[in-house]
Amino acid sequence: MGFCAKLKQWATPVAVPDGATVLEAALAQGVPYPHGCRSGNCGACKSRLLKGDVELAEFSDFALTQDERAQGLVLACRTMPRSDVEMAWLEVDDLVTHPLRDLTCRVAALGDMTHDIKRLRLKIEGGGPFTFSAGQYASLGFAAIAPRDYSMANAPARNGRDNPEIEFHIRHLAGGASSAYASTKLRIGETVRVQGPYGTSYLRESHTGPIVAIAGGSGLAPIKSIIETVLAIDLKQPIHLYFGVRDERDLYLEDHFKTLAAKHKNLSFIPVLSEPGKPTKRRTGFVHLAVAADIKDFDGSKAYIAGPPVMVEAATPLLQSLGMRREDIHADAFYTEAERAKLQAASGAAR
Ligand SMILES: Cc1cc2nc3c(=O)[nH]c(=O)nc-3n(C[C@H](O)[C@H](O)[C@H](O)COP(=O)(O)OP(=O)(O)OC[C@H]3O[C@@H](n4cnc5c(N)ncnc54)[C@H](O)[C@@H]3O)c2cc1C
Ligand code: FES
Repeated sequence: MGFCAKLKQWATPVAVPDGATVLEAALAQGVPYPHGCRSGNCGACKSRLLKGDVELAEFSDFALTQDERAQGLVLACRTMPRSDVEMAWLEVDDLVTHPLRDLTCRVAALGDMTHDIKRLRLKIEGGGPFTFSAGQYASLGFAAIAPRDYSMANAPARNGRDNPEIEFHIRHLAGGASSAYASTKLRIGETVRVQGPYGTSYLRESHTGPIVAIAGGSGLAPIKSIIETVLAIDLKQPIHLYFGVRDERDLYLEDHFKTLAAKHKNLSFIPVLSEPGKPTKRRTGFVHLAVAADIKDFDGSKAYIAGPPVMVEAATPLLQSLGMRREDIHADAFYTEAERAKLQAASGAAR
């Protein structure tokens, strides 16, 4: 049974089985539907419902506001048809799609970036070739643990070339299954399952205006991939990189970015400490407030933001209030299962 979903941008109608979402069915049938979190939290699958009846599972206001819902917008990852439907995904600028891969990888390198962030380098041994855009993420499965999303930290190989290795930065989360395993048990040579690439918060390579990049903690991973790609392809626009962490011990790759900034005059690198334990000469406060204090004109700019949901959810409306269009803000909030459950409970209660 189930219903049929006609998509404005795709010639073949999608059969949506009972209980499935439009996004699940579309991806299973090879449709390059723009998407990110697949859990109603990011807004990347925002679509217009043109015809038909649907039921929406829980989603966060950050992903879809009540106003947008009232205007006929839905999230494909939350949309279950209750009749045949017609939908159109909102156009993503510079839409880039890569084949979805199920990779078998081996741990090639493992090291400490900070007291709680590990750098993981995986060698791809099967399932490739793997291509991705700077800023995207993949789902990583360690041992028998449920997979979790982690962002690629290396700049992707260019011109359709294969990426033989991929890098991740994984922050150890208290009580977390996957991050604890990666931090304490994972060993060189071990097999890791990787599915991806996912995500729409990737570098828009045709954009020539200023770039505002805001990373919080291990959110530096996708931002590093983006910055290194911008510099590798020699884009000349101003790049303002802000790296927010709690205290001195949470900073990493500082020398790397200082060296890049010394070499590329269009790059500025500003670390910001939110909870310095002792007096410091560094910038202090919340990283998004440092951006707002420094930059007065966002005309023509794009922002790339990644890290803790609280930071992403504060930075996004702030940049909008300062004149940046929502479609120029490409953000990945690192939602955990606890945060997803909390958001869904809150949005369920509000409905
Ligand atoms: C797009 C994206 C990209 C990301 N990229 C990165 C990255 O590059 N680096 C990085 O460090 N992290 C990243 N993350 C976060 C990452 O995916 C994991 O959420 C994080 O590592 C925690 O996973 P875990 O398995 O260790 O914790 P989990 O086992 O998922 O636990 C996290 C917390 O949730 C609680 N919890 C678990 N299940 C439930 C439930 N069902 N209901 C309520 N509470 C629950 C746990 O008790 C714990 O407090 C990203 C997330 C997203 C969405
Ligand atoms: S993919 Fe639908 S809200 Fe993130």
